[in-house]
Amino acid sequence: MAEGNKDILGAIRARRSVRAYLKKALSPAQEEALFAAGRCAANAWDRQSFVLCRVGPKARERLVALTARHLGGVPADHNFFDAPLVVLYLDLRENPERRADAGCALENMMLAAAGMGLGSVWVDQFATLEDAPDLAALLAQLGFGAEYVICGAAAFGWPDPEEQLPPRPLRSRVALLD
Ligand SMILES: Cc1cc2nc3c(=O)[nH]c(=O)nc-3n(C[C@H](O)[C@H](O)[C@H](O)COP(=O)(O)O)c2cc1C
Repeated sequence: MAEGNKDILGAIRARRSVRAYLKKALSPAQEEALFAAGRCAANAWDRQSFVLCRVGPKARERLVALTARHLGGVPADHNFFDAPLVVLYLDLRENPERRADAGCALENMMLAAAGMGLGSVWVDQFATLEDAPDLAALLAQLGFGAEYVICGAAAFGWPDPEEQLPPRPLRSRVALLD
């Protein structure tokens, strides 16, 4: 696994969603580290029934076109901010905790990315399409039958330094129940 260059709390504090990327691929070691981080994630009952899919160019084109057909706009509007790496989190429909598990795995990957100076963003364009027959058909053509659904997707890459978000105030609360 490639070594990160930030400690874990530093990576957590530094991470912001990145929606502008340089046209530069990640190294194989970086990709390997990201996928390893995802696969190490906590998951309910340690089922590990999920599959982290690296989306290749042909599948990406088809997924983006399908998204545009459902959500409107043109395919370019749904192309994961042109990030060099797109990851789909697939899991079994029968796993009732699949969305929570997806959160853990993708957050692990996003924090690993931050630790390596990379950017990431969760892209939820399939959230309302879980039961869309054409998405199921496309997944089947890509090797995943109807028992699998997309529970999350994220984009990764080198952040464009011109367009990054500053740190933001935290609005959530911590409370004591006593
Ligand atoms: C479940 C989930 C779905 C999200 N969906 C999208 C999305 O579809 N498009 C997008 O640009 N950002 C998406 N985000 C990123 C959030 O907008 C972002 O995390 C939030 O605004 C906080 O900003 P930060 O990530 O920079 O801290 C999503 C995040 C989560 C956790």
